Amino acid sequence: MAKQIIKIDVKAAKADITKLKADCLALGVFSNVKNSDLLNLLDARLDGAISRLKKIGDFKAAAGSSIFIYTHGKIAAERLLLIGLGEKKQASMDTFRQAASKAAFEAVNVKAKKLAVLLHYKESDTNFEKLGRILAEGIHFGGYRYDEFVTQQENGRSNSLSAVIVSDSAANVAKLNKGIKVGQIIGRAQNYARTLGNRPGNILYPAQFAAEARKVASSVPGLNCAILDEKKLAQKKMGGILSVGQGATHKPRMIILKYSPRKKKGTPIALVGKAITFDSGGISLKPAADMHEMKMDMTGGAAVLMTMEVIARLKLPVEVYGIICAAENRPDGGSYLPGDIITTFSGKTVEVLNTDAEGRIVLCDGLQQARVLKCKTVIDLATLTGACVVALGKHKAGLFSNDEKLAEKLKAAAKDSGEPLWRLPLGPEYSDEIKGKIADLKNIGSRWGGASTAAAFLGEFVAGLKWAHLDIAPKMDASEPMKKYAEPGSIGFGVRLLCSFLMNEVL
Ligand code: BES
Ligand code: MN
Ligand code: ZN
Repeated sequence: MAKQIIKIDVKAAKADITKLKADCLALGVFSNVKNSDLLNLLDARLDGAISRLKKIGDFKAAAGSSIFIYTHGKIAAERLLLIGLGEKKQASMDTFRQAASKAAFEAVNVKAKKLAVLLHYKESDTNFEKLGRILAEGIHFGGYRYDEFVTQQENGRSNSLSAVIVSDSAANVAKLNKGIKVGQIIGRAQNYARTLGNRPGNILYPAQFAAEARKVASSVPGLNCAILDEKKLAQKKMGGILSVGQGATHKPRMIILKYSPRKKKGTPIALVGKAITFDSGGISLKPAADMHEMKMDMTGGAAVLMTMEVIARLKLPVEVYGIICAAENRPDGGSYLPGDIITTFSGKTVEVLNTDAEGRIVLCDGLQQARVLKCKTVIDLATLTGACVVALGKHKAGLFSNDEKLAEKLKAAAKDSGEPLWRLPLGPEYSDEIKGKIADLKNIGSRWGGASTAAAFLGEFVAGLKWAHLDIAPKMDASEPMKKYAEPGSIGFGVRLLCSFLMNEVL
């Protein structure tokens, strides 16, 4: 039967690294730090194995690199794993997160059950609580594997990974453990978002997504979940999401989660996620090559769902709605057609010139729902355009906003979370491109600037609201250099980012 996702657990402990029993002891090394007490100690215990490795040039401690050294019983750990951290002055918190991912990734590759990690150096100004969170996030990220449908082929991997973050100070251990608690919640949530992303369209379709949302909501107090099925969507005249889903075997759902804290600060925030469980393009069919990747076109929705879980577990004092627009985009006798004019939930009409520009059509109903729920701040996440991938490569997601403060906060959260954003333009020249002739709007602009015209289309539905749109198409799945420490497939992009944003919001 289907294998379980690897159970990962992280804690911090005070320990002597030479005596620590582990399948793998991961040690961070800066490329330009010549003399580390720790490295010298281990080198001596391992009869000069580390200096030899350096001498022959097999390990230069470049960021993203690693090498195993077998310890032959000279220390208690079976293997020493050196993790390159690159140059010290260039290191950021994300360097340590990635190093922790790399440690867990390599540990799982060698079927380790117990991993000890020492990535940080004694420094008086280190925020150990934050470090604990970041290392835990990283360990969960790197330790993740997706093989729930593998039944025949024996991968032989261990079903669990228990990681210990080692420190030599009891005070730091306490701080690390405090951060680890949060990091584990975020890390697990992000990995579940990856699992949802990796699940194919025949398994995760809109009604199943709704069932997952219900399950998440019932697993933690403070979360409420309402599902609008096709009947309710029709009653509410949600013509956008209904049109996109009308040709599909699996009918659309709008999922509305509400997190109500005991005490709250500020006005409610809406997170709106695109969850196209499979995007074939519809009648404007996509080419066959790589079409299967469009099972991940629900990445935005998964990020919204799992962020809702995190904030409820952390009991953040802010009211948040999670609105997920789940639909399947496929060709059929009943599908919506190029040329169709549809009336969206907002009342605005849209002429559909390309059925593959479906994300914006489901989202306009989600954005309107946010307005109906009286949210003054709205952030949407969507794998919206190939054009955004062309613009930014697979390295950063696009950020669009009509509010400078909100944009700055999201940039800060991007830095914090290591989920990078890059601001792209909105403006009347883009909005003009999607103004309609025979309807209020048309769903595509000209050939150029597709990420901005898509954003401008969404912008038509958020007048008067503080709004940001994250085009996360570039970060839908793992690409180089992330593949050095991440399982191929979904990376659950957006969970860490939104959690950082919301945590910063209430600090
Ligand atoms: N889901 C796609 C965008 C996408 C492309 C996400 C590549 C991830 C990787 C979206 O629905 C889409 O098909 N967009 C079209 C819009 C076009 C028809 C204006 C696109 O980008 O080609
Ligand atoms: Mn599409
Ligand atoms: Zn799509």
